[in-house]
Amino acid sequence: MRLLDAELIESLEFLPGQWLQTYHAPLLASASQAGQFVHVRTPDYSGLVLRRPFSINTVDRVGGRITIHFRVTGVGTAWMARMQPTQAVEMLGPLGRGFEVDPKSRHLLLVAGGLGMAGVRSLVDDALASDRSVTLLFGAASAMEVYPSSLLPDEVEYVVATDDGSFGHHGRVTELVPQFEAWADQCFACGPQPMLAALANLAAGRQARMGVARLGPRRGKGTKQAPPGSRAARRRAWLQVSMEQNMGCAVGACLGCVIMGVDGPQRVCREGPVFAAEEIRWEGWT
Ligand code: FES
Repeated sequence: MRLLDAELIESLEFLPGQWLQTYHAPLLASASQAGQFVHVRTPDYSGLVLRRPFSINTVDRVGGRITIHFRVTGVGTAWMARMQPTQAVEMLGPLGRGFEVDPKSRHLLLVAGGLGMAGVRSLVDDALASDRSVTLLFGAASAMEVYPSSLLPDEVEYVVATDDGSFGHHGRVTELVPQFEAWADQCFACGPQPMLAALANLAAGRQARMGVARLGPRRGKGTKQAPPGSRAARRRAWLQVSMEQNMGCAVGACLGCVIMGVDGPQRVCREGPVFAAEEIRWEGWT
């Protein structure tokens, strides 16, 4: 984890109210993992003292650059949208635990809802760089909010769903998942919590739908289970979700980002933001 001044290189409003900003931050870029985030503070003269969390959207480790993707929702993000190249913000990161891809997984299904694209976008690049196939399902309210395919690598199969049917599949993005669940070795998702809860519900019934028998634990060698929340356990999970939560400190001290897990409270900034779906208590989020 580093605290550094990151210089803005480029700022682009690519959808109404949604911005993509590129920052020069070599130490951050070299250490980051897909699914991690940065905590950003605007300069003191802005009068905005609270930091804001942003997923690390893409990483250029050679060029020492990262991008973040955000929507203008208040004075802090409005200030950032007005920034000019060469201005800097203070960035703390990379923070949290990112996605754990099983080395054996070759086909990855990514599911993003709205701004959740920022949570999985970096994994697209990492997966393609390691010769994996990627299908990315994206859900938005309407065509006006669809993430442009021009900002994605050509190798990705990109499938869109809109709530009003103005582009792609008419309905929820989760309705597309059953078409790909047999093909996908693993699934990684980020978006609104009801979407993640629906995905967790789908994932829980996946093996039964595919006719896979549930075997009891094998005897002898190999019976040891990886502890829930460990890297090994998450790597074996079919569905990993990146949780979005308001954050205060982003380093595990304030408990402002706690969600309920099956084994008790979990800090999204420290134990997450990425969790195996079976670690979370989903009741009440559908
Ligand atoms: S934001 Fe403070 S503990 Fe997570």
